[in-house]
This record gives sequence, C-alpha cells and structure tokens, in this order.
Amino acid sequence: MKLFVLNGPNLNLLGTREPETYGTATLADMQDALCALFPDIDFRFVQSNHEGDLIDALHEAASEGASGVVCNPGAFTHTSVALRDAVAAVGVPVIEVHLSNVHARESFRHRSLTAAVTAGQIVGLGMKGYELAVRYFLDGAGA
Ligand code: DQA
Repeated sequence: MKLFVLNGPNLNLLGTREPETYGTATLADMQDALCALFPDIDFRFVQSNHEGDLIDALHEAASEGASGVVCNPGAFTHTSVALRDAVAAVGVPVIEVHLSNVHARESFRHRSLTAAVTAGQIVGLGMKGYELAVRYFLDGAGA
C-alpha cells in the first residue's frame, strides 16, 4: 500500500516551533516512527511551505495510485480554496490531521476549508494523529 503524508507550511520547524503547542518531536521523528510502525507501507513524505507544491503532491498521489493521503495542511487549512479544490479533484481519500486542537485556539483556526472534502479529520492528538490516520487506511478505510 502506498500512502502520501503531506505537511504544509512551518511544519518543517516542528521540534523548535512553539513546543508548548506542537510538542518537541520533529517531523523526521514522526516519519521515522511511521516507517517503524508500518514497515510494509510505501510512504511518500512531502513537506512544503508552498501551496502549489502541496497541490502537485496531491496530483501525484492520484497519478501514482496511492491508497490515501494523510495531510496536515498547516495554515493553508484555513485559507486555501486551491488546496481544497485539489483534494476534491483527485479522488484519493484524504485524512486531515492537526497536531493541536484547533478548536481550542484562535477563532480563525476553527474553520477548515479542506475538511469538508476529506474523508475525516483528526485534531489535537499530537503526532499520534498521523498514526491513527494511517491505521484508518490500513484497516480498509472505514470498511
Ligand atoms: C496546525 C494548526 C494550524 O492552525 C497551524 O497553522 C499549523 C499547524 C496543527 O497541526 O495543529 O501550522 O495544522
């Protein structure tokens, strides 16, 4: 099974970025943990600070026949119609993950433009959220 794991802007700074909100684990820690937990999954990890790169990665997930995408769009969650349209366009199921509980934070984080076109959303569970999203796909995506 091939899964894409996409991370948006500023998530390359995990580990040092606002650790009281996002914890001290790095993006590499998260990727290593997923590879160790799920050695049979063919992961494609993409992190970008640029909206178009994330859109391109969603298109690639579709053209490469990925079974699913785990996506933390970062702040683009709250702003990007283009990313939402890409999620809706590709026909690959996407689970949206947020490390922090966005609903307990500033009101501008309460709205997700992408969530309505995803299969579901995992919020506020830290790095565990990525693992749970992978398990959803592994268990047959709700089957
Ligand atoms: C985030 C929440 C977003 O509001 C924020 O812009 C991020 C990280 C999270 O994982 O909690 O960059 O997606």
